[in-house]
Amino acid sequence: MTATVHMHVTAWFTALVLFGSALVFRRAGMVRAEKIIFIVLRIFYLFIIATGVKLLSFLAEFQPVYILKTVSGLFVISLIEMVSARDRKGKNTPAYWILLALLFVYTLYLGIKLPL
Ligand code: HEM
Repeated sequence: MTATVHMHVTAWFTALVLFGSALVFRRAGMVRAEKIIFIVLRIFYLFIIATGVKLLSFLAEFQPVYILKTVSGLFVISLIEMVSARDRKGKNTPAYWILLALLFVYTLYLGIKLPL
């Protein structure tokens, strides 16, 4: 179980770093590098979801608040995609960034607070 927690944390942390570097590469005009990073990033989404589902399977007692943790985690992933799609098209992103930051903090809070 501890191994799965480590994998889950490593997966979302790596995804975060990849997302940041993809944006830096885009700003630098290195479109090819950015595209490759995005492909890897999407594989990491799968790791996040797979380890999250595995953690759910360890729960002795399922409480509705775990649904909230799952939904907010999935929302964080969706918002990363929305921010990058809008950024790529040159559309406004501030509202999406704020939502992403809030949901990320909320997901972290739930993850740390909830007992496994
Ligand atoms: C980017 C998105 C996500 C972030 C930032 C995140 C963050 C975290 C954190 C910080 C923990 C606590 C680890 C610890 O105990 O030290 C955690 C645990 C957990 N996560 Fe995630 N998570 C994300 C996505 C998901 C998804 C998509 C699912 C479900 C499919 C999920 C399900 C769980 C479960 C069941 C636990 C264990 C219960 C708990 O301690 O809350 N997470 N997550």
